[in-house]
Amino acid sequence: MKTQLAIALALGAVTTAALAGPIEEQIRFRQSAYSFLGWNTAKIKAQAADHPETFNKDQVIAAANAIAAVANSNLLELYGPGTDQGTGWKPTRLKPEYFQKQAEVKELEATFIKEANELQKVAEDGDVGEIKAQFGKLSASCKGCHDLVRVRE
Ligand code: HEC
Repeated sequence: MKTQLAIALALGAVTTAALAGPIEEQIRFRQSAYSFLGWNTAKIKAQAADHPETFNKDQVIAAANAIAAVANSNLLELYGPGTDQGTGWKPTRLKPEYFQKQAEVKELEATFIKEANELQKVAEDGDVGEIKAQFGKLSASCKGCHDLVRVRE
């Protein structure tokens, strides 16, 4: 009986871990997602803000689509308990305070998703000035979250 119970509990633990993914895996996916966001936001910044003479509508649309897809992929699922400690591609920079600031985090995440979806629409329209302005709003939403829950480098 005892052995059966132990096996059942062990299987239960495996199933739960499989849903959220082990800690190191959550951190790795999270770091991958944000690096990919960084690559795509850098392209929009270069083409719409810093060097508008290089503006390429198709590339900006592709980058905005990628950003919106990542933003809408439920990234907060990758912030399971214990993921403020551990190493993905590198040691995590998530502050332990993350877990005490859930209301603020959810609000910041909602703003980030809203601004990413808006950038996708504005990119389709192709007006460089509007893209630049909307990109500013998106970047502010990234920074808001970093200031709150990301360890400074
Ligand atoms: C919900 C909060 C939140 C939002 C919104 C957010 N980030 Fe982050 N970002 C983090 C956290 C936390 C980390 C550290 C992840 C880790 O190390 O586990 C991070 C890490 C990063 C990194 C470093 C990735 C690496 O490991 O090399 C980049 C680049 C980045 N974010 C860019 C962005 C950009 C660009 C946006 C907006 C388009 C954004 N982030 C939006 C919380 C956020």
